[in-house]
Amino acid sequence: MLKLPGLIDPHVHVREPGQTYKEDWDTVTQSALAGGVTTILAMPNTQPPIFDEATLNLALDAAKQKARCDYGQFLGAGPDNAVKVSALANKAAGLKMYLDSTFGELRLDDMTLWMPHFINFPKSAPIVLHSESRTMAAGILFAAIYDRPVHIAHVSLKEEILLIKAAKEKGIKVTCEVCPHHLFLTKDLTGFGNLSGLTPGRKEVRPRLATQEDVDALWQNMDVINCFATDHAPHTLKEKDSENPPPGFPGLETLLPLLLTAVDDGRLTIDDLIQKSVINPRKIFHLPEQSETWIEVDEDSKYEIKAENQFTRCGWTPFEGWQVKGRVRRVVLRGQVAFDDGKVLAEKGYGRNIRA
Ligand code: NCD
Ligand code: ZN
Repeated sequence: MLKLPGLIDPHVHVREPGQTYKEDWDTVTQSALAGGVTTILAMPNTQPPIFDEATLNLALDAAKQKARCDYGQFLGAGPDNAVKVSALANKAAGLKMYLDSTFGELRLDDMTLWMPHFINFPKSAPIVLHSESRTMAAGILFAAIYDRPVHIAHVSLKEEILLIKAAKEKGIKVTCEVCPHHLFLTKDLTGFGNLSGLTPGRKEVRPRLATQEDVDALWQNMDVINCFATDHAPHTLKEKDSENPPPGFPGLETLLPLLLTAVDDGRLTIDDLIQKSVINPRKIFHLPEQSETWIEVDEDSKYEIKAENQFTRCGWTPFEGWQVKGRVRRVVLRGQVAFDDGKVLAEKGYGRNIRA
């Protein structure tokens, strides 16, 4: 049995308020615990989006009642809320800026709309950017000009990871995260597992799945990657298989088994895993230590990933049928057994706000 610290997932779409038929604070935190994740940071592209005090309270009230693991909530950068959200910074996980194609209404196209956020949001807290390719380069330039930290969400391309590497070498305050689906899947689905169930709508995700060359570049630059993040973005199967499929994959319950399988294959070290799933996200997002918190993993347990065994409400996974090695047996959160042998034991409301 391998004992690890509770994992931190800095990028989760909870869907509450507004779209609880996809997921809510209860099911998403059950999914987290089943995946060995004891802290989630929730994205603001809900309905309504989290962009002021009233909407922040909507999310935090629901979380307080329903969350079974610890959590923080991001604020969303809108066209005219820079002063308002900066005043709420100490209650939130950070500020999320959507600079590229995404699901929801929070996109900021015009760079003049970025400036007030870079000027006003406290420098002690990172701004997280959804930015791809050249937009990401612009975001890094903003970090340099305004001399403040930015965290690049879901890096997926070779050009992105190479530019982040170069920016870090120049001392620009940039950190980044990578999602398992961008490490294990390619756009041609020439990945490593059984992809027979991945129909066109189910393949939709932002950033899109990339080429084998991009995937290889991420693995080759593992030392540039600060965090693993799931970008857990649940949409129902009905939506994914519809005419107009929304982008997004669930990921909380497949994160650790996929990474442990990579450890078993010699492609990743356990130290890397702990660094990028616990130590670095804690440092970047200034998260408190969780006392008496750990997960117990059966490293030798081999099994097949199946959506029917998952706690997420969305009912599917892009990794259906994959053979993995490494199973979460037990999660202890602040001294209480929160997950044991396939059952979530933490009660609704046991989770704590990391900023409370
Ligand atoms: C996310 C979602 O569904 O909320 N989808 C996705 O493909 N990652 C939105 C996002 O992070 O852009
Ligand atoms: Zn996301």
